[in-house]
Amino acid sequence: MQDNLSYINQHKDRFIDELIQLLKIPSISADPAYKNDVIKTADLVKESLKKAGCDNVEICETPGYPIVYGEKIIDPALPTVLVYGHYDVQPADPIELWDSPPFEPVIKKTDIHPEGAIFARGACDDKGQMYMHVKAMELMTENDQLPCNVKFMIEGEEEVGSESLSWFVKRNQEKLANDVILISDTGMISNTQPSITTGLRGLSYVEVEVTGPNRDLHSGLYGGAVANPINILTKMIASLHDENNHITIPGFYDKVEELSREERDEMAKAPFSLDAYKKALDIEEVYGEAGYVTNERNAIRPTLDVNGIWGGYTGEGAKTVIASKAFAKISMRLVPNQDWHEITDLFKNHFESIAPKSVKVEVKPHHGGQGYVTPIDNIGYKAANKAYTETFGIQAIPQRSGGSIPIVALFEKELKSKTILMGFGLDSDAIHSPNEHYGIFNYLKGIETIPLFYKYFTEMSK
Ligand code: BES
Ligand code: MN
Ligand code: MN
Repeated sequence: MQDNLSYINQHKDRFIDELIQLLKIPSISADPAYKNDVIKTADLVKESLKKAGCDNVEICETPGYPIVYGEKIIDPALPTVLVYGHYDVQPADPIELWDSPPFEPVIKKTDIHPEGAIFARGACDDKGQMYMHVKAMELMTENDQLPCNVKFMIEGEEEVGSESLSWFVKRNQEKLANDVILISDTGMISNTQPSITTGLRGLSYVEVEVTGPNRDLHSGLYGGAVANPINILTKMIASLHDENNHITIPGFYDKVEELSREERDEMAKAPFSLDAYKKALDIEEVYGEAGYVTNERNAIRPTLDVNGIWGGYTGEGAKTVIASKAFAKISMRLVPNQDWHEITDLFKNHFESIAPKSVKVEVKPHHGGQGYVTPIDNIGYKAANKAYTETFGIQAIPQRSGGSIPIVALFEKELKSKTILMGFGLDSDAIHSPNEHYGIFNYLKGIETIPLFYKYFTEMSK
């Protein structure tokens, strides 16, 4: 038996190469044009789980994209870790802003990643982070050190709301029974300061359509005399925040949990440089809800953002027109206790109520999900912290994240287990953006840290 680090060093080129092969397949779940690629990726994940030593590896069909399942049950008396990840990725556009093609992975050095980072869509979110678990499994199998039972459940619809996974989880409670769920699909503070994500925000995503006249009109002949849906839509959107950047939807904050001064002081201890933050984004000043600092605004406070807005003429040159319709996609990030169905209803009622009679408004809910917070006084958290402390030489800091993984709240409801979010990505890894990348350091550090989680979780379960 080899020690873990020497196993990783011996096999790291292959580990990187295998991830590159996975990243070459454009598994974009949002775009039906990539259907075959999504399915091909599921097959590759399936083969990788078999090679890593899993038994009963299968492609589980769902109404949507398949779920890849595999397990290694060494002793039913031992604890079981359920690993979740996703093999689908976000669309790559705007493609022209990538320095290298999104599905032709390249390794480049950056200031933050002096040992190099893999640039490709999905490198960090979540193929790179998910594959760390597959390689950690290989390592534990090869080194004969798997201390407990493992189940893998890797889905292909996370980036579009995990609808099929909800369907699957509700029907397979027994198959998925576990003592803890382990996910690497979040971030950490920096490569010298690990953190464990203890909260995720919920989400309500809606699309709105404002219709004015029944056809596009000449803006000279009709301008000023009928409602311009784009003017109206932008005005309605602007009214959704007040001068303090509070959201104006009645009832929106009713269930928001206010953190105590002590909890907020504790949060403020996490290392953070506002200057570095502004510099990295090339902004003069930050912006947000009055009364809260940046790390509160993006983690413990709910938000409302327009994600896209369109209508009218956007082609070359000028066309004088009043469009018949205007559209926007709007997301609301929610905090625990806010129910996303309730918030969606509040939004719909409010948005319809503020529309002038001169237009018709339609609000179409897309997907959503509940937020999540997890305490730190459980063995899952403690085992994770012990694992990080050993591989990074410093304790991990608990930190709430602003992102969403809606399925985590469902796991708790349906499978009755806590989720440990051991993320190894960095905010600067540009997930969902052009030039997404994942540090080689982070990838290998993850493979080194994960087996220790298994070890300590098993020890602490006794
Ligand atoms: N992995 C992300 C979520 C994430 C990233 C959480 C970093 C915390 C830190 C996930 O793939 C994602 O993008 N989720 C979506 C929601 C989903 C329903 C489309 C999100 O947060 O926008
Ligand atoms: Mn993800
Ligand atoms: Mn994502």
